[in-house]
Amino acid sequence: MPETAITADLFRQGMRRFAGAVNVITAANAGERHGMTATAVCSVTADPPTLLVCINRRAATHDAVVAAGAFCVNVLRAGDEALSAWFGGGQTGSGRFASHRWIEIATGAPALADALAAFDCRVVHAHAHGTHTVFFGRIEACRLEHEGPPLLYASGRYARLAAHEDGDLSRPFDFLYM
Ligand SMILES: Cc1cc2nc3c(=O)[nH]c(=O)nc-3n(C[C@H](O)[C@H](O)[C@H](O)COP(=O)(O)O)c2cc1C
Repeated sequence: MPETAITADLFRQGMRRFAGAVNVITAANAGERHGMTATAVCSVTADPPTLLVCINRRAATHDAVVAAGAFCVNVLRAGDEALSAWFGGGQTGSGRFASHRWIEIATGAPALADALAAFDCRVVHAHAHGTHTVFFGRIEACRLEHEGPPLLYASGRYARLAAHEDGDLSRPFDFLYM
């Protein structure tokens, strides 16, 4: 296919080709819990321990992160598709926290007790760009409760790594779409 000038549709099609880990970003503000599904999460540097998240300014969680100055990135496990769908819009408000066990860690943001990993972050920098804000979070605490396969999202579908099916991590990973 020839090189094509970028359009909104081409951007969306191109972004579908990124395979991403699925996370739930949470924040607590004025006694209310907020959370949303996000794949736009990236490691920045280990020194100081920092990650970034990109959040649409129209998402309810956006303003909660701004107000709290903190957020938690909960890395989902293969099998957490329903939870991802709830936090992706299937449920609203604090109803999203009705299932699963949530605990409060250092910053006060809710952490998913059974996440693959939970990174509790203090916002150190926020950069608005277009529709989104990029939040840089200094990681203050980290829970690594489980080991195992992450929940992935690619080509608009949930997926997991096939090598994790039988626990054999020595052979190359294949994608298994759900
Ligand atoms: C797999 C998946 C990945 C998503 N990634 C992001 C993301 O990185 N950033 C973002 O702002 N929204 C992302 N969304 C959309 C939000 O989760 C969705 O708009 C959510 O409903 C926002 O919360 P609200 O309804 O409280 O506004 C994603 C949704 C799904 C299902």
